Amino acid sequence: MGRVYGPLLEPLSAGQSRVIGQLGQSLDGRVATVTGQSRDVNGAVAFVHLHRLRALCDAVVVGVGTAVADNPRLTVRLVEGSSPARVVIDPKGRLPDDIGCLQDDDVRRLVVRAEGQDGARPKGVEVIEVPCGPDGALAPAAIRDALAAEGLQRLLVEGGANTVSRFLQAGALDRLHVMVAPIVIGSGLSAFDLPPISALSDALRPEVTAYSLGDGEVLYDCAFAADGASPA
Ligand SMILES: NC(=O)c1ccc[n+]([C@@H]2O[C@H](COP(=O)([O-])OP(=O)(O)OC[C@H]3O[C@@H](n4cnc5c(N)ncnc54)[C@H](OP(=O)(O)O)[C@@H]3O)[C@@H](O)[C@H]2O)c1
Repeated sequence: MGRVYGPLLEPLSAGQSRVIGQLGQSLDGRVATVTGQSRDVNGAVAFVHLHRLRALCDAVVVGVGTAVADNPRLTVRLVEGSSPARVVIDPKGRLPDDIGCLQDDDVRRLVVRAEGQDGARPKGVEVIEVPCGPDGALAPAAIRDALAAEGLQRLLVEGGANTVSRFLQAGALDRLHVMVAPIVIGSGLSAFDLPPISALSDALRPEVTAYSLGDGEVLYDCAFAADGASPA
């Protein structure tokens, strides 16, 4: 398992980033039930792995959907190490100020929003503005670069499916950790939401190493090249 963390620790020069996405899913590719419940998709070892990833990164990034649905703490509690900065991508400013991850615990807290959005955030919460496309999307590469400019070079994009899929589609993920739990949810939120392809030759084919986490749970460590395809 130690090998899985090596790529995250490689030295980076100023302005460079390393972005890792993570998703915990069922055998049938669901990250949550139809009611949005996702906390116990994966087991205890997967949680330890997630906390280790947090401890190795400068910032943990979630979409506003996850922040609102789960009210996650996004701190490091199950392994040694410091909690990373917490970043919520909230283009339209719908994240409530009293949400847990914005509360002051001496860790940096940042909100990424569309350029030109009004509205103050609680004292100490940093606001990063990123240009917004006509479809309301913030380019993942622009988010990554803006965070790198803030000294946050190693990013864990922790969810949800929508946010991870946007980074994946944009070729802005270096690695993706997919933890597959031996359960079938049957319906609910899919892990990936990408544009349709008609030919399997167009499927993304990352370089993959699989690790058993015990109890039938498997971690797929997927390496992507900068363009989102398989590495050379
Ligand atoms: N199993 C797991 O590993 C896991 C992990 C995390 C979360 N979850 C579950 O996933 C669910 C929430 O996930 P989700 O996919 O619905 O939402 P999400 O990815 O957490 O948030 C999506 C929202 O974030 C904003 N956003 C993110 N990136 C953006 C970008 N590049 N440009 C513009 N807007 C961007 C948009 O906000 P607006 O809608 O305001 O435009 C978008 O609708 C919850 O049920 C949670 O429990 C599961």
